[in-house]
Amino acid sequence: MFIINFKNYNEISGTNASKLAKIAEKISKKYGIKIALVPPQHFLSEFARYSIPVLAQHVDTAGIGSTTGFIVPEIIKKSKVSGSLLNHSEHRISEKEITELVPRLKKLDMISVVCVKDVDEVKKYAKLNPDYIAIEPPELIGTGKAVSKEKPEIITKSVIAVKQAGNSTKLLCGAGIVSGEDVTKAIQLGAKGILVASGIVKAKNWNSIIEEFASAISKTQRRL
Ligand code: G3P
Repeated sequence: MFIINFKNYNEISGTNASKLAKIAEKISKKYGIKIALVPPQHFLSEFARYSIPVLAQHVDTAGIGSTTGFIVPEIIKKSKVSGSLLNHSEHRISEKEITELVPRLKKLDMISVVCVKDVDEVKKYAKLNPDYIAIEPPELIGTGKAVSKEKPEIITKSVIAVKQAGNSTKLLCGAGIVSGEDVTKAIQLGAKGILVASGIVKAKNWNSIIEEFASAISKTQRRL
């Protein structure tokens, strides 16, 4: 799984967001790699037209009905949104909210990606059996210093922690990933995919960087 978090970077504002989405869709088909788009909320229903999954950057525990301003899973599901990131480092939520939202998304057959900052949180939330746990050391996010090179042990320990949960949850890693080499290292360490933002969104050429990451995933997976 190769998740592209658009965050709220200026580079993806306006019509640029769909340019990035189209490129990701094309390369996903070319390499047969699962690429998921995570745009700002106001692009969610527009992105439903792409053949690759679109995930929300955040959802709330608020219910259907008079809940102004909240992002309700049951409502975005009806706009063909495939799932959501939960507890991203830049939008942390409580343990109680995570514990409620993972089974709620599962019941809706929506993809859940629980973001965590350390191995203890991997152990805690893997028990909820989300589809993915994404380990991202906050201090490396946006730095261009890849988690797979700067902190390889956090990936290997997280892989073990997810395995110990004994369920179908898969481990992703993110933070500072900016090259195919960073991606290859992450997959070799046991990650089942990556969560990236600035390395893609702020790149000069979206086509070549997404291609570089996708080919690194497909080559490395074949060798494992
Ligand atoms: O959600 C992905 C993110 O937090 C990683 O950020 O910019 O280091 O790829 P970045």
